[in-house]
This record gives sequence, structure tokens and C-alpha cells, in this order.
Amino acid sequence: LTVAVLFGGRSSEHSISCATAGGVLTALDRSRYTVIPIGITRDGAFVLEDDSPAKFALNTQSLPEVIDNGSRVSWPESTQSRELHVTDASGTRSLGAVDLVFPILHGPFGEDGTIQGMLDLVGLPYLGSKVLASSLGMDKHFTKTVFQQAGLPVAPWHTVTADAWAAAPEAAYAALDELGLPAFVKPARAGSSVGVSRVESRDELAGALAVAFAEDTKVLIESALVGREIEVAVLQGRPGEPTRASVAGEVVVSGRAFYDFAAKYLDAPGIDLVCPAVLDTAELAEMQTLAIRAFDAIDGAGLSRVDFFLTADGWVINEINTMPGFTPISMFPSCWLASGFDYPSLINELIDVALA
Ligand code: DAL
Ligand code: MG
Repeated sequence: LTVAVLFGGRSSEHSISCATAGGVLTALDRSRYTVIPIGITRDGAFVLEDDSPAKFALNTQSLPEVIDNGSRVSWPESTQSRELHVTDASGTRSLGAVDLVFPILHGPFGEDGTIQGMLDLVGLPYLGSKVLASSLGMDKHFTKTVFQQAGLPVAPWHTVTADAWAAAPEAAYAALDELGLPAFVKPARAGSSVGVSRVESRDELAGALAVAFAEDTKVLIESALVGREIEVAVLQGRPGEPTRASVAGEVVVSGRAFYDFAAKYLDAPGIDLVCPAVLDTAELAEMQTLAIRAFDAIDGAGLSRVDFFLTADGWVINEINTMPGFTPISMFPSCWLASGFDYPSLINELIDVALA
């Protein structure tokens, strides 16, 4: 089987995608799979990468990156072929026919349905959520709208566009007053906490919005939830089999404002990941049911990680990630490890489900 692994990409989560790919490339069983590693540069060029997973391992000192090496990978011209080609200094050659594309991409232009749409157009099968689920999962405003409609618990929020903020800032202040402090300000379509600020006072709103608008023209103001931050991994079943939810993992924050980018990837202190999280049987069962309902609500496929807060009023869903971080130390594989899948078996399972 030939698997094309796509990573990097145009979003602010470029390096995280590379680190995830480093883990996946290391784990892919080469006796089962022929692997074509395709990097996407920050400018959106598709380049043929060396099959050297170590190059993309998560390094907290210098995050990995796809560098333009001048090669260009081209996609099939029609649904009649699944053959990829590469053009470089020595000319154009075939990379062979692809059985499955694994788009290990986070953020816009990767996790948001755009790559998925391109692959649909050329007729290549791929792993994970399709166009609609990817777009919904990427956009926090529409994720919450769909969850609310499905009767799933979400935190109250207000969405503000850059144009609305410029025209009538008082509306955003009024929303903040109604939501209450502290609050979070988040770009609607980003991940890994890029552009996210915790706002403790009214004075901090304008600065937080500027940071978020640097990432997206649409931003959410949300009430900060008080409670435990707990995540669960979801895996689609084989044909005829139900969707599965893992045990839960907890993000324990101490001496840090929140689980921000530095805590996620740069080894900043103040965060512990605890997996499995200590929950009673009923709490875990309810969370798993909500996670699978959330996955179904956006029409998810393949995999997702659903992030929750356990508040005094019960579970609240913070968000869903259709291509969660997947380095060997990330929460998604950790949750499955504690549920009986080691990292290579999890990758095999994802591929088998996608091809089934
Ligand atoms: N957006 C990051 C990769 C995550 O959800 O894990
Ligand atoms: Mg996210």
C-alpha cells in the first residue's frame, strides 16, 4: 500500500504539523506501507521530502519546518489516475500510484476542508474528516452553533469580525460585560492556542482582539470556564462497528494562565498531562457519549479529539479537533495508549479504517 503523507502547510500550526508527521513517519510500518512524504511550505508549494522522520521530530528549541528544496509534486490530472509526479532539477518522474493520502495538517488550508476538497476533486482517497466536518471543526463559531443545535453543552460566546470591531467597538465591550470576566479571546479559525488571550479586565480587550485579528478576521469572546480541562480521543469504527472513545486525559494547569502554545510545544512549565484522568465511571461514560455525539454532529470521520471542561454544572465542550496533534507525547495517542493501542497500532488502525 502506498500512503502519501502531507504535512507542514500554510497555517500558523505549520511546525506542529511537521512534528506530528515526524512521529507518524517514524511509526509507519515500512513492511506494510510505501510512504511518499510530501511537505507543504509556508507559501503553499508541494515539495517531495526525504523520508527522514528524525528531521521533523518535535524539538522544543527549534520547531521543525518544511524548507523549499525546489522540487514540485503534482497531483493526478483526473480521477482516471492516482499517480503522483515530481519535477526537480533532473526532470519529471513518477512517484507511483497512491492508495491513501494522510493529510497530517493542522489549521487553515489543511484541517479546514480545503485540502480535503482538492483531494475529492482529483479523486484520491484520504484519511480523516471530509470537507464539511473539517470546515465546521476548524471554525469555532460554527462548531459551537452546530453543537448548540445538537443539544450539546457549550460555553456562552460572542463572535466579532474585524469590520464589526472597527465600526462599533462598544458592541464587543457590551458582549464582554454580559459574558463576564475573566474571558478568552480566540481567533475563530486557528489552533494550538495561537492568537488566544485570557482577558482579566475590560482594558485588555482591545489588545487581545488585535492579537486574535492578526490570525483571523473573525474572533470569539468566550466566558472563561471554571473547572477541570479534560480531553478525549475519538476513533471511527470499522464498517458496521460503532465509533470508539478513549479514556480521558487531563490538562492540569498550575502556575500558568492557561494551556497556551508555549506549554503545548515549548516545554514551558506549569502544565501536566495526566492520562488516564481520574474520573468516576459515570463521568467518563457521559463524557465519551458527548464526544461521540460531537463527532457525529459535525459529521466527523476517522479521528478527532474533543476537548471539555468539567465544571460545577457538568461537562461543557470547548472544541473539537479533526486532526489533533499527534506527536508521540500528544494527548490523542496518549489517550489511546491508555486505552490499549500503542502508537504504531493506532496509525495502522487509522489507515485500515480509512481504506475499509
Ligand atoms: N490544533 C492542535 C494541533 C491540536 O488540537 O492538537
Ligand atoms: Mg483546536
